[in-house]
Amino acid sequence: MPIHNSLSRNDFPTDFAWGVATSSYQIEGATAEGGRGQSIWDTFAATPGRVIDGDNGDVAVEHFKRFGDDVDLMSRLGIEAYRFSIAWPRIQPTGRGPASPEGIDFYDQLVDTLLAQGITPWATLYHWDLPQTLEDAGGWPARDTAYRFAEYAGHVADALGDRVKHFITLNEPWCSAFLGYGSGRHAPGRADGADALAAAHHLMLGHGLAVQQLRELVPDAQVGITLNLYPVAGVHDGHGVDDAVRRIDGLSNRWFLDPVLRGAYPKDVVEDVAHVSDLGFVAEGDLGTIASPLDFLGVNYYTRHIVGPGAFPGSGVVEFADRGLPTTAMGWEVDPDGLFDILTRVTRDYGDLPLVMTENGAAFDDELSADGLVHDPLRIDFLAGHLEAAGRAVAAGVPLQGYFAWSLMDNFEWAEGYAKRFGIVHVDFETQVRTVKDSGRWYAAFLAGDRTQY
Ligand code: FCB
Repeated sequence: MPIHNSLSRNDFPTDFAWGVATSSYQIEGATAEGGRGQSIWDTFAATPGRVIDGDNGDVAVEHFKRFGDDVDLMSRLGIEAYRFSIAWPRIQPTGRGPASPEGIDFYDQLVDTLLAQGITPWATLYHWDLPQTLEDAGGWPARDTAYRFAEYAGHVADALGDRVKHFITLNEPWCSAFLGYGSGRHAPGRADGADALAAAHHLMLGHGLAVQQLRELVPDAQVGITLNLYPVAGVHDGHGVDDAVRRIDGLSNRWFLDPVLRGAYPKDVVEDVAHVSDLGFVAEGDLGTIASPLDFLGVNYYTRHIVGPGAFPGSGVVEFADRGLPTTAMGWEVDPDGLFDILTRVTRDYGDLPLVMTENGAAFDDELSADGLVHDPLRIDFLAGHLEAAGRAVAAGVPLQGYFAWSLMDNFEWAEGYAKRFGIVHVDFETQVRTVKDSGRWYAAFLAGDRTQY
């Protein structure tokens, strides 16, 4: 492997949050235990043809039962912060009403175990597991779901706010709205452009209302939202390329950044989507609520989008391309400079709100070797390259305050089922045995303060 650079945690601020991330449906399993209600992912995964190999999260990596061992493992790796998500249908099995004591109990235990090991909990309230009953009542395209989300946020704040001081309202509302209701590739699998836009709005409204709940109930909490952001570049210079870039940047990035951080939808994108929706669901005062002040913005970064007008310049149709760079098992180009670009761009365009990398990582076809280890040099290179880019962004003045590797361990990768492994810890899905990959050892050494060459 060529040595590009050397890297040390000392290149980052001293109070930087160093962690790993997971989410409830991807790891917990025990979907019918602890009084948990059904979520849209249970329904979606049970529908033939939706998830590769018919996989589902019923068992996942049994974190519900093995969380104590998993926290021990994090502690052995020197992980200092853990971003996990709370399953809404464990707290409110039908998405309404009082909090379920059994559901609260699980997260109480998880939080206490983390704190006992000196690991700071970062709780995400919504990482895609909407209670099925709320989907049956209209799902995110229905305005009431935003109010239900705020009520749920209040329950979590009441129960955990004495110990959890870092909250993320939503994970990647772009995915919930556009993959869930637009393309149908994610739960609940609906495909209607107007519904997708309504869903995006009500997700953001729910976010703003939840921020207000959290502020009231946990005044010393740090509150943010996590967006999946992509730098967007053109395939080449030419007719229609700039417009393709503008459109995709508009829908992927600005459609969420602008309302949340500026209290307005981007005008050019409002025009782009006018043939799909007149945004009649935006009520007076909504944008003010959506723009409730935040303590940080969570950024998930995986790759860059390369776009062009394809064969139809001027038609508004955009085609995605790649540049022949090495890709991960997801087919996503490995592009650490894209991380530098997106972090510096957010700071330049939206001001100096603290940023936290709430996810960054890669899937590769890892295998357990005969020596009992998992050698994943490509993931080490990926993490090191992206940390180096993050360090450059810090040096360029970006107020970056944390980095969470996706993911602690291999897990249920949504529509890809168990076919894609993102962990720095390998999981044998038959036996549930955890094996720290070389990348996990590398991250542990980095966190321990070793200056690494890569
Ligand atoms: C993100 C999701 C996360 C994981 C990674 C690979 O979009 O937030 O749950 O699936 O992608």
